[in-house]
Amino acid sequence: MTGSGPETAAERRRGGSAAGPQQRGTGARALFRELTGGDAAGVWSAPGRVNLIGEHTDYNEGFVLPFAIDRRTAVAAAPRADGLLRVVSTFGDGPVELPVAELGRAHAAGELRGWSAYPLGVAWALGEFGADLSAVPGADLAIDSSVPVGAGLSSSAAIESAVALALTELWGLELSRETLAKVGQRAENDAVGAPTGIMDQSASLLGERDAAVFLDCRSLAAEVVPLGFAEAGLVLRVIDTGVRHEHATGGYRERRASCEAGAAALGVPALRDLEVADLDRARELLDDITFRRVKHVVTEDRRVLDTVRTLRADGAAAIGPLLDASHVSMRDDFEISVPELDVAVAAARAAGAVGARMTGGGFGGAAIALVPAEAVPALSAEVEKAFAARGFAPPAQFTVVPSDGAHRDP
Ligand code: GLA
Repeated sequence: MTGSGPETAAERRRGGSAAGPQQRGTGARALFRELTGGDAAGVWSAPGRVNLIGEHTDYNEGFVLPFAIDRRTAVAAAPRADGLLRVVSTFGDGPVELPVAELGRAHAAGELRGWSAYPLGVAWALGEFGADLSAVPGADLAIDSSVPVGAGLSSSAAIESAVALALTELWGLELSRETLAKVGQRAENDAVGAPTGIMDQSASLLGERDAAVFLDCRSLAAEVVPLGFAEAGLVLRVIDTGVRHEHATGGYRERRASCEAGAAALGVPALRDLEVADLDRARELLDDITFRRVKHVVTEDRRVLDTVRTLRADGAAAIGPLLDASHVSMRDDFEISVPELDVAVAAARAAGAVGARMTGGGFGGAAIALVPAEAVPALSAEVEKAFAARGFAPPAQFTVVPSDGAHRDP
């Protein structure tokens, strides 16, 4: 998320809100009752995601392999008869209200701001993808989340996906999950102002238990790839450095521009169209920085394909070297890591992780480590020790489990 979801230091340390990973919309239901005095018609929830591999490849029309995690955003919702949209959350001020009929004007005037730009931006974007907003009744939405903000775990996509699904079902719209992913991305790009790709919303909407979503970001063809972490005796640890990023104004936009400049200079529609064998020519034609940005993306696409192949042929324990290589590429070529992420990755490797890398947009956020279950205590201690030795604040460390995508809660 782009810094608009306030979060207390205590929550950051815990790696989530008080609701915790197992919450079932209780916070959202209670908040809904506070807002309206009545009960919600239903609760819809959508997960954050971890990107296993494939970083900064989505907006280059390449490949990604994220999975949905057991940290969710819940939206308790009910329709209203008067055409008003009211949103309230446990992490922002509010309630904020706007007539549905005003969404287009408010969006054009740049009036969708702060945390409510996410849910209101989604409502607006539904109209951009074919929903007839003049025919919908309005809604009350109460939102609660256990996805840590700014950790690179897509708290924003979790809000967008949960709201998109809730409004689609409440309002009886006929939009596929693939379209809802585009709705969330449009809200993020045009209402929030972060020039992000389609990966996060796709993971949140298409994820399945124990599996990753292998997405071709050009065709948007998605395949579910079983991960089998538990069978392999592995767990996925998140090490949230506490260093916070800012996608809308930060280096993310700059990296995207470099990739587009590189593709243009090399005469291809997108970096997806280059192979590793094209890099020699790229090195001759491009300045050093643009070349290294291009090299990261081209080699990362290859690593995603290799990871999918390796998972299928040899299982999760065999993908470590690909995760490690991805981190090195982001650290040295794409230059989006920070010292805290590098320390987390090195300590995790030293403590027996089979592979580790930073995950998400970079410039802070979290690292992931794939680690034998029995090595988790040693890994946590080693990471704590390494952070203390560098004078860094202790990171939040927790396990995430590949989980179901967005759904209506029972
Ligand atoms: C953020 C964006 C995604 C993707 C990643 C980097 O999470 O939202 O679209 O670009 O960064 O892989």
